[in-house]
Amino acid sequence: MSNWLKLEGDVCAVTGALGGMGVEICREFARNGANVVLLDLDEEKVKAAAADLAAEFGIHAEATR
Ligand SMILES: NC(=O)c1ccc[n+]([C@@H]2O[C@H](COP(=O)([O-])OP(=O)(O)OC[C@H]3O[C@@H](n4cnc5c(N)ncnc54)[C@H](O)[C@@H]3O)[C@@H](O)[C@H]2O)c1
Repeated sequence: MSNWLKLEGDVCAVTGALGGMGVEICREFARNGANVVLLDLDEEKVKAAAADLAAEFGIHAEATR
């Protein structure tokens, strides 16, 4: 875990979460202990990305389109 963003326990929403920048931003927020809400257009893919993020970083992640 990293703490440079000081986001532990916060909730961060990321639009375009499946895009090149969105994926990396979601991962950095999660790496800093934030819970993440992922927003993108493909509901199935964004839900899968949220589940993967939660499993990898041990945070809570939700998805919506
Ligand atoms: N200012 C800068 O220096 C800078 C640098 C890089 C990228 N950007 C901008 O940042 C944005 C993201 O870049 P990227 O490389 O990740 O792009 P990308 O095309 O890889 O990803 C964009 C994502 O946004 C999603 N999306 C599109 N419309 C949406 C909507 N209405 N609601 C939710 N999600 C939606 C797409 O499905 C896609 O997954 C772009 O607008 C890009 O122009 C700016």
